[in-house]
Amino acid sequence: MNTSKTKDSYQIAVIPGDGIGREVMEAAIDVLDALDIDFEYVYGEAGDESLERTGTALPDETLEIIKNSDACLFGAAGETAADVIVKIRQEMKMFANLRPVKAYPNTNSLYDDIDFMIVRENTEGMYIADEESYTDDGAIARRIITKEAEERIIRYAFDYACENGKTKVTAVHKANVLKKTDGLFREIFYEVAKDYPEIATEDFYVDATAMYLITQPESFEVIVTTNLFGDILSDEGAGLVGGLGLIPSANIGLDAALFEPVHGSAPDIAGKGIANPIAMMLSAIMMLRYLGENEAADKFDNAILKVLNDANILTGDLGGSASTMELANEVKNNL
Ligand code: NAI
Ligand code: MG
Repeated sequence: MNTSKTKDSYQIAVIPGDGIGREVMEAAIDVLDALDIDFEYVYGEAGDESLERTGTALPDETLEIIKNSDACLFGAAGETAADVIVKIRQEMKMFANLRPVKAYPNTNSLYDDIDFMIVRENTEGMYIADEESYTDDGAIARRIITKEAEERIIRYAFDYACENGKTKVTAVHKANVLKKTDGLFREIFYEVAKDYPEIATEDFYVDATAMYLITQPESFEVIVTTNLFGDILSDEGAGLVGGLGLIPSANIGLDAALFEPVHGSAPDIAGKGIANPIAMMLSAIMMLRYLGENEAADKFDNAILKVLNDANILTGDLGGSASTMELANEVKNNL
């Protein structure tokens, strides 16, 4: 977790991207501006329109802006999303992917009392995508687990637990089959756990976890896992709490962090001003916490909670008929 002290002012890289990325970004910035924190926004382009205009989906200039900022807010890209976001993660060595799974009122959440964080290793595992070798009969992919990267992510998960009032960390793996790679992951987990005696620990196989997320999601507080398992379980988590319009995420590195909604550019509703900005807003709240601005984060979070509880001003995906900016206004009114 970022342990830096708060600052008098922050430079924020803002990359709205394509489609509803631009609309939800405008809404989130509108609320951030009402928080009494000195943000200097530096806008960068990326995505399909950038590709069309400049010949590249991720101009060097945009990467420079991210490098020189305290944090980055990213909206969504279109077809070029993988080129943009995967490249930023690699360039900025963003090793941790955080996906909160939290139930909000008046949403399609399956249960009311879900509130856990998935901490996913973002640099190795199955997603090194080393599939070069074909055999006579098929193809082979390699899966890499290193002590350095797994210890880093596991430590991150424990630090996150300590800093956020969580009491337990769950390691998820498949060490019964992947005895060497996931055996090592589990071993490192319990080794690191010794440094955090106040945090309870448990470990589950990934298949069992997929079931427990449905049958007892309230029992989880922080889940730490390798790249592929984290990807799959995060989307299961998104399904649990009801829909893309509400799910934020963070990508954290040693000296860079990017916050983005999980959804894409939604071409089916783009340009209509009806996208739900809450996923982008919750991403901005994760950024505030990363910057140490916890009071502002609580204020923003409570305002969203109030708007969802009142259920007067909601976007179409939540059963209402409000526009993106009407919802933003309502959040501002509740700060
Ligand atoms: P999508 O997330 O853009 O949309 C899926 C469905 O959810 C659509 O029906 C959309 O209208 C709805 N939806 C998404 N966000 C919403 C919001 N905030 N409010 C209300 N409804 C919302 O995913 P899809 O359709 O698979 O991809 C569309 C484009 O987005 C593609 O070009 C894809 O490559 C890109 N994409 C980009 C991502 C990123 O920038 N990180 C992530 C996922 C997709
Ligand atoms: Mg995914």
